[in-house]
Amino acid sequence: GAAVEVDIGALKPGEKLTVEWRGKPVWIIKRTPEQLAALPKLDGQLADPKSLRNPADLTPEYARNEHRSIKPEILVAVGICSHLGCSPSDKFQPGAQPSLPDDWAGGFLCPCHGSTFDMAGRVFKNKPAPDNLEVPPHMYLSDTRLLIG
Ligand code: FES
Repeated sequence: GAAVEVDIGALKPGEKLTVEWRGKPVWIIKRTPEQLAALPKLDGQLADPKSLRNPADLTPEYARNEHRSIKPEILVAVGICSHLGCSPSDKFQPGAQPSLPDDWAGGFLCPCHGSTFDMAGRVFKNKPAPDNLEVPPHMYLSDTRLLIG
């Protein structure tokens, strides 16, 4: 399929852009410093914190790091749950929200069967979704132009 070029110059911390690539929603999210700082603290609660499962399909080599991305603040991920394919909703903010733990550090909640993902798309333990969200192949053409695919 054709690659998709996206200008992310206007994306602000805490914001998300969604583009379509190969018929799938791809999220581009600019994480806040607080969201980035929370990532390493979550490892013990995650099913695959180091993204070791099925890396050829889920996590390109340049995203096999704590933030699962090329630029630490920018997450690029396919917004499709690894359980049965629903699209998780944004639950970026910490704080009490229905069906999320009180110590929620931000991330995504799948409305279908309750799988939760952190701000790097990593799935929490003991959830129906077996895997982290897919990081699609991507590269930067310049500081603000991203090529997906
Ligand atoms: Fe997401 Fe089932 S499809 S938890």
